[in-house]
Amino acid sequence: MKILLAGGAGYIGSHTAVALLDAGYDVVVVDNYCNSSPEAVKRVEELTGKNVVVYAADVKDKAAMQQIFAENKIDCVIHFAGLKAVGESVQKPIAYYRNNIDTTLTLLEVMAESGCHNIVFSSSATVYGEKNAAPYMETMERGTCSNPYGWTKSMMEQILQDATVADKDLSVVLLRYFNPIGAHESGMIGEDPQGIPNNLMPYIAQVAVGRRDKLTIFGNDYPTPDGTCRRDYIHVMDLADGHVKAVDFAVKNKGTEIFNLGTGTPYSVLDIVNAFEKSNNIKVNYEFGPRRAGDLPEFWANSDKAHEILGWVAKHDLEDMCRDTWNWQSKNPQGYKK
Ligand code: NAD
Ligand code: WQD
Repeated sequence: MKILLAGGAGYIGSHTAVALLDAGYDVVVVDNYCNSSPEAVKRVEELTGKNVVVYAADVKDKAAMQQIFAENKIDCVIHFAGLKAVGESVQKPIAYYRNNIDTTLTLLEVMAESGCHNIVFSSSATVYGEKNAAPYMETMERGTCSNPYGWTKSMMEQILQDATVADKDLSVVLLRYFNPIGAHESGMIGEDPQGIPNNLMPYIAQVAVGRRDKLTIFGNDYPTPDGTCRRDYIHVMDLADGHVKAVDFAVKNKGTEIFNLGTGTPYSVLDIVNAFEKSNNIKVNYEFGPRRAGDLPEFWANSDKAHEILGWVAKHDLEDMCRDTWNWQSKNPQGYKK
């Protein structure tokens, strides 16, 4: 089976490519490298000993996408291609709506023209909004998002669901990721954010490797056990495995199905810093700062549905996540840049 990874050179896409290739699938990647490097796909090939067909193109470019579908018989698409920086989305909402929604519409149009009926979509816990209480369940209504990025995910979920109502052959799997961290255990691929990291784990890793002075912990007065926010961190290889199982599910079913992918265990910011220090025997300088706008005190997943229907379960613990992050960062202090 041939799987098209839209945005496949990125953090989650590259790890999913490894999982798919290891499981015997053929992989085609399309990416415009707006937040990634071609080197990531080269490393995927090196790691797996398999070839990846790669297209440097914008997923919004319909003619380019038509050519990719004409040259490859695609059985299923995984749509990772999105802009994802929450703060930036507040500054540049139109760019976020344009990129994220247009990529989805273009993929759906070209899939319909080409007779490809299966798509797995990178959604996010953010669609649960500000009012739902943790643990989040797929049966909960989507909520009010606190930023344009979150709204793009919520809107794209609606677009994909509407498409399955109209097209009875279409199969959509919405994967709501919680907080992906970690790296492939080889340390050859990992998260390589451009500029100042927005997310906690890459920030910690860059402090540990000496690229940044210290971590600022955003708030220690939340109503949580230690006052810092709690999240459901999930190893990126567990997430990648979830995509392999979602593809298997998508090709055998029709309509829309939603799955949370999280471990169900919340950890605080201080838990993460302490676990990183302990697992890697390295000091992480930090200070407490003010709260970051839009942060919720805590949320985590109920992933029973993914367990029951997909047979998926997260296998890596927090120590694995911290060790594998550091293995990648210490071997690649500047990320994919030589
Ligand atoms: P990433 O930025 O590393 O990967 C996204 C990839 O898509 C990048 O390689 C980028 O160059 C590419 N891309 C973006 N727009 C494109 C376009 N128009 N045409 C072609 N390529 C394009 O991000 P990631 O962390 O791997 O996330 C993958 C997906 O998962 C995103 O949709 C993101 O919103 C979603 N998600 C991520 C997280 C997270 O914390 N990392 C959590 C929930 C959901
Ligand atoms: C985690 C915790 C911060 C950086 C975001 C998106 C979400 C999803 C995953 C895409 C929070 C704290 C962080 C720092 C800190 N992405 N923190 N200092 O905000 O839970 O989720 O990424 O869909 O939609 O919102 O993840 O890694 O940014 O933050 O103290 O320098 O770490 O306040 O409590 P978040 P994060």
